[in-house]
Amino acid sequence: MNDEIKKSESILSKDFHRIVLTAIRNQEDIVFITYSALDQVEEKIVFTLAKILEKHNMVDIFTAVLSCIKELIANATKATAKKILIDEGVIKNPDDPMEVVQKVRSILNKNSLLEYGIKAKDKKLSTRIYFKVKSKNLIVEVINNLPLSEKEYNRMTEKIEQASKYDNIAQIYMENPDPEAEGMGLGLSMIIVLLKNINLSHKNLTLSTDNKSKTYAKILIPLSKL
Ligand SMILES: Nc1ncnc2c1ncn2[C@@H]1O[C@H](COP(=O)(O)OP(=O)(O)O)[C@@H](O)[C@H]1O
Ligand SMILES: [Mg+2]
Repeated sequence: MNDEIKKSESILSKDFHRIVLTAIRNQEDIVFITYSALDQVEEKIVFTLAKILEKHNMVDIFTAVLSCIKELIANATKATAKKILIDEGVIKNPDDPMEVVQKVRSILNKNSLLEYGIKAKDKKLSTRIYFKVKSKNLIVEVINNLPLSEKEYNRMTEKIEQASKYDNIAQIYMENPDPEAEGMGLGLSMIIVLLKNINLSHKNLTLSTDNKSKTYAKILIPLSKL
């Protein structure tokens, strides 16, 4: 078995195992709430995803799907940290992409993310991760409670469209430099390439916002071999 899965099993309590395994058996929705990488949410996700995929004999796509989920969570927590940077006045001009990028990048390290995780909890800016199994599909939904601006939404959709034309991430990186990227600027593109590698289309990733208080990122994984 994959070392990551083994590690998650040994770290999490037997009670947690039991609750998740029962929910999977009964096809109930499972949700985790996180404010940053500080809690054991990563191990919980590893365990839950592994058990769902094992049930359907699809452990071979575990690593690809896990990477997609982790990236969506990273984007959600980054969006939260960005909002706090703006609220606290660290980002003085939210309309200046270069200032935003520079300030956001400056907190993308373990200690700062921890600090911003605590602030996010105070402000009730959570990220929720849902696992739903419905009619032979696994739907993983990552929801953060901030809306997407039209500009962000357009940027993200454009990146997804663009990435759908490629098969590898190195080529995307060389041909589409992105000076406004907050991280490497490759997260969404990586998801698209990973989905392609497991024979899924970019349409299996959908992004939306209610324009008021939420952003939804959803990946749909058929649970039977294509
Ligand atoms: N949950 C989210 N909320 C708000 N903006 C987001 C979210 N996810 C992604 N974005 C926007 O989409 C852009 C591209 O995301 P991505 O491809 O992962 O690159 P990166 O995270 O490295 O900047 C981000 O820079 C950010 O502006
Ligand atoms: Mg990203």
